Amino acid sequence: SREEKLNYIMGKIRPFNDFPSKGVLFRDICPLMKDHKALCATIDLFEEYVKQTYPMVDFIVGLDARGFLFGPLLAQRLGVGFVLVRKKGKLPGPTESVSYTLEYGQAEVEVQADAVEKGQRVLLIDDLIATGGSLHAACELMKKCGAEVLGCLVLIELKGLKGVERQGSTPVFSLFQY
Ligand code: PRP
Ligand code: ADE
Repeated sequence: SREEKLNYIMGKIRPFNDFPSKGVLFRDICPLMKDHKALCATIDLFEEYVKQTYPMVDFIVGLDARGFLFGPLLAQRLGVGFVLVRKKGKLPGPTESVSYTLEYGQAEVEVQADAVEKGQRVLLIDDLIATGGSLHAACELMKKCGAEVLGCLVLIELKGLKGVERQGSTPVFSLFQY
């Protein structure tokens, strides 16, 4: 059942205090990735949600790097392709990019200019939403390319950081909220 799957997956998310810096409670998904049953259950739950909510989706768009762990598995289940949003400087050929502000300094996300066609409907996926800066920039990037952003999928939402609010009217679906 859905509840059993959620409980099983939750047991495979390992908290680490003070990583990568003091005061951060890091949610480590490596045990989940390592466990066949947990990884299958995770994709099952995303698949069920997308098939019910967004049967019209054209592409799954994954965020560098941990969105690449779940995105292609989900895309295969749905019978659609996978698009990579990368950190700046990793993609060849013409690209579009969006820069955004981090706690300290700037970051930039990039996609190939021909990754999507105008009006194509996309869902973004990442492992976790914290401040929401990464997902917001990736959504802006997809809109810049002419895509219609249906919503975002994440395994984990860190509620205290208000990252979902930062997405405005774009819906964010999460399996776990901490
Ligand atoms: C982490 C995480 C999300 C992002 C969330 O990635 O995987 O992509 O941070 O934070 P935000 O909501 O505040 O933007 P990170 O930048 O550590 O890169 P990685 O995936 O390459 O490890
Ligand atoms: N990315 C941003 N914040 C994180 C956290 N607390 N755990 C894992 N990944 C993160």
